[in-house]
Amino acid sequence: MTETKIAILASGNGSNAENIANYFKGNPNIKVAVILSNRTDAYVLERAKKLDIPSYTFKNSELLEGGVLEILKSHKIDYVILAGFLLKVPRSLIESFSERIINLHPALLPKFGGKGMYGHHVHNAVIANQEIESGITIHLVNEIYDDGKILRQEKCPVNGDDDADSVASKVHELEYKYFPVTIENYILQKEV
Ligand code: GAR
Repeated sequence: MTETKIAILASGNGSNAENIANYFKGNPNIKVAVILSNRTDAYVLERAKKLDIPSYTFKNSELLEGGVLEILKSHKIDYVILAGFLLKVPRSLIESFSERIINLHPALLPKFGGKGMYGHHVHNAVIANQEIESGITIHLVNEIYDDGKILRQEKCPVNGDDDADSVASKVHELEYKYFPVTIENYILQKEV
């Protein structure tokens, strides 16, 4: 197998990006080749430095007009992973990476998805709706927010005394445990 190269797109903290990078460290087949962010102040950029992974920042216009695609091509990227990435992925990128863009969503889609549904907005909505469970959805990206084919869902309980922070930490635990292995299995075409 030739080496498969992954790019991670992240908008903020980047704890999932770091977790994925650590998971694939030393893997002879799959490598996190580059990390990109749409925010110059995103903490994920510090993490990339520490991990010794090349990183880039870009403006929304570069996402729409092909600058991001060029970076991905120059690094010979095979798969794009969205780990806390908050912009909509344009059609041009989806067409270039057909069925090779994977997103992580911090709830059980199709509930609590769509525009504006990210991070604590999602967890607050879950609590306001008095849900008894939440979880994660790992899915392929198509042109509609949070709508592509679901690869895996994992659940956690939500109790009466949970707040957005405590739900977020349960969800993060699931993300750290299941996102990297699901990416690996999808790339290797194993059962996910
Ligand atoms: C994660 O919980 C991820 O599921 C969520 O943002 C968080 C990023 O955390 N993504 C979305 O809400 C996308 N709609 P991290 O930056 O520490 O990895």
